[in-house]
Amino acid sequence: MWPQRLLLAALLSLTILLTSIFFFTLHYSPGSSLHSSESSQELVPQPTELRLLIGILTRFGTIDRRHLLRLAYSVQPSPTFPAVIDVRFVLCNLTSSDQRLLVSLEILRFNDIIILNCSENMNSGKTYSYFSQLPAIFPDTEKYDYVMKTDDDTYIRVLPLVSSLRARPRHDLYYGFVVPCMSMDPFKGYMSGMGFVLSWDLVEWIRESEIPKNNTMGPEDKVVGEWLRLGSKGKNRWCEKPGMYDYPGTNGRCSHGLIEETVAVHRLKRMDMWVRVFEYFNVTKGVKPSRMYHLD
Ligand SMILES: *[C@@H]1O[C@H](CO)[C@@H](O)[C@H](O)[C@H]1NC(C)=O
Ligand SMILES: *[C@@H]1O[C@H](CO)[C@@H](O)[C@H](O)[C@H]1NC(C)=O
Ligand SMILES: *[C@@H]1O[C@H](CO)[C@@H](O)[C@H](O)[C@H]1NC(C)=O
Ligand SMILES: *[C@@H]1O[C@H](CO)[C@@H](O)[C@H](O)[C@H]1NC(C)=O
Repeated sequence: MWPQRLLLAALLSLTILLTSIFFFTLHYSPGSSLHSSESSQELVPQPTELRLLIGILTRFGTIDRRHLLRLAYSVQPSPTFPAVIDVRFVLCNLTSSDQRLLVSLEILRFNDIIILNCSENMNSGKTYSYFSQLPAIFPDTEKYDYVMKTDDDTYIRVLPLVSSLRARPRHDLYYGFVVPCMSMDPFKGYMSGMGFVLSWDLVEWIRESEIPKNNTMGPEDKVVGEWLRLGSKGKNRWCEKPGMYDYPGTNGRCSHGLIEETVAVHRLKRMDMWVRVFEYFNVTKGVKPSRMYHLD
C-alpha cells in the first residue's frame, strides 16, 4: 500500500503548492498575513501602501487568452513594499448555461472574474459599466487606491507600474498613454484604452455624476477623457511615455521598440508577439534544470 500512500501525499502537496502559487500571484500582498513566509519574518504587519485593481476587459470566448494572461501575471515579481495588486477579468452578462458552467469553473479555480450587469453585444458602454459598478462591488473596506482598465491584448509589467503609481497623488489622478501618440501633454487629449488608471475618487464620481451617464457612446477611451474634461476632473495627470506603447510596427508612431523600462505593451494580437515580449523581458529565466523535461 506504500506506493499508493506516497502517490496520494504527492498529489496532495502538489495541489497545495499549485493553490498557493495561484493564490499568491494573482493577489500580490507581501507583508500581509496572507503570505505565511513573509508574516513569519515580520510579526508586525505593515500597513498596505497601495491598492491597485487591474481590470482586463474581456469576453467569455477568449478563455485561451485568459489562461495566457494568468500565466503572464503569475510569474511576475511582487513589489518590495506592502501592496495589494488584484488582476481581474471583467465580463458582461453570460448568455447561456454552458457559459455559466465554464466561467464557474474558472471562478472555482482562480477567483479572478468580475461579471458586470451589462450586455456584451452592446458596442459601447462597457467601460462605463465597469467604473460605475465597481463601488457597489467593492465596499469602502475593500476599495482600491487606483483602478486600471486594460485590454486582453496588453502586457502589463506590474513592478514598473506600481513604482510609477507609488509616486503619484492618490486622488483626482488620470494616468496612462496620452493620445495623440506624439503628445507628451496629459492635460490635452485622453489616455489610450491600452491601459489607463483612475484614482478611486474618480471611480466614485463616475458612478454618481450625470456627465458619464449621459455620454456612454463612442470610443471608450476618448469618452473617458471627455467626461473628465466636462467635469473638470483629473487635476493630477501622468503620461507614462515611453513606458507604454503599441507593439513594434503595429501602429505607426504609437509603436516603438521594446525597452527595459516598459510598463505596458499593447496590440499583442498574435502568439508570436507574446513570445517576443516574454523573451525580451526574460520571463522564463527562472526555469531550473530537471530530469522531467529538456528545453534545448
Ligand atoms: C441591470 O441592468 C439593467 C439594464 O440596464 C437594469 O434594468 C437592471 O435594473 C440592472 N440590474 C441591477 C441588479 O442593477
Ligand atoms: C444581466 O443579468 C441580470 C441577472 O440575470 C439581469 O437582471 C440584468 O437585467 C441583465 N442585464 C442586462 C444588461 O442584460
Ligand atoms: C443628463 O440627461 C438628463 C436627461 O436627459 C438631463 O435631465 C440632465 O440635465 C443631463 N445632465 C447633464 C449633466 O448633462
Ligand atoms: C534579459 O537578460 C539579458 C541577459 O542577462 C540582459 O542583458 C537584459 O538586460 C535582460 N532584459 C531585461 C529587459 O531585463
